Amino acid sequence: MKRRKVLRVLVTVGPTQEPIDAVRFLSNRSSGRMGYAVAETAREAGCRVTLATGPVCLTPPDGVRVLRFETTQDLARLLEREAPRSDLVFMLAAVADWRPARAARGKRPRAGGRWALPLAPTPDLLARLGARRDRPFVVGFSLEERWNRARALRKMDVKRCDLMVLNTLRSMGADRTRLELLERMGHIASRAGSKSSCARWLVREVLRRYRGKGQQPRGELS
Ligand code: CTP
Repeated sequence: MKRRKVLRVLVTVGPTQEPIDAVRFLSNRSSGRMGYAVAETAREAGCRVTLATGPVCLTPPDGVRVLRFETTQDLARLLEREAPRSDLVFMLAAVADWRPARAARGKRPRAGGRWALPLAPTPDLLARLGARRDRPFVVGFSLEERWNRARALRKMDVKRCDLMVLNTLRSMGADRTRLELLERMGHIASRAGSKSSCARWLVREVLRRYRGKGQQPRGELS
């Protein structure tokens, strides 16, 4: 009997840190909790999970392969390497949109008064991933100030992901969250609750859509 393929899932999670000098960095408030819950749930669902994590204060779940990144550039390299080996990517990483244009050498002394720090834009890693010919099935995460479905749908289009998850700033650092899953045609479903219960719901919905594209991952959540 033919063995069914085990789904290879990559979950990127947590903030990037962009160096200002040897001791300081630019980052954001992402806690990584939602991403870790997604990784754990995907593993429980029978997937082979790689967790690509930025610097967060969380213990990775058992049974997942862990890769670490700090800067956007680290994550870009990691995606180049891992995307072709993945069937499905959950792009939860809170990638910095800007980085200091040039990191200062050593530790910049405090004396010297004001300091204007020129920032340079980082590449849009999700858009790069979406533009790959051999791209996996990609789920983006749209973080909005307000419940702005139109903005999330535009991002899904520009970044060419298969599904987009809308959430708002209220989820950041909180125990609970509210998510809305979107496809090109618009709303699929939404859910509010603890991050772990939302992760279970989300992984189940995403696996269902993935299978709907003719793929047959092994394992399923009840
Ligand atoms: N993302 C990315 N590379 C970036 C910025 C964001 O890959 N440089 C990804 C995130 O991982 C997420 C998705 O793009 O899956 C949406 O991120 P979000 O912060 O909501 O959107 P931005 O593209 O940063 O746009 P804006 O800040 O204007 O909302």
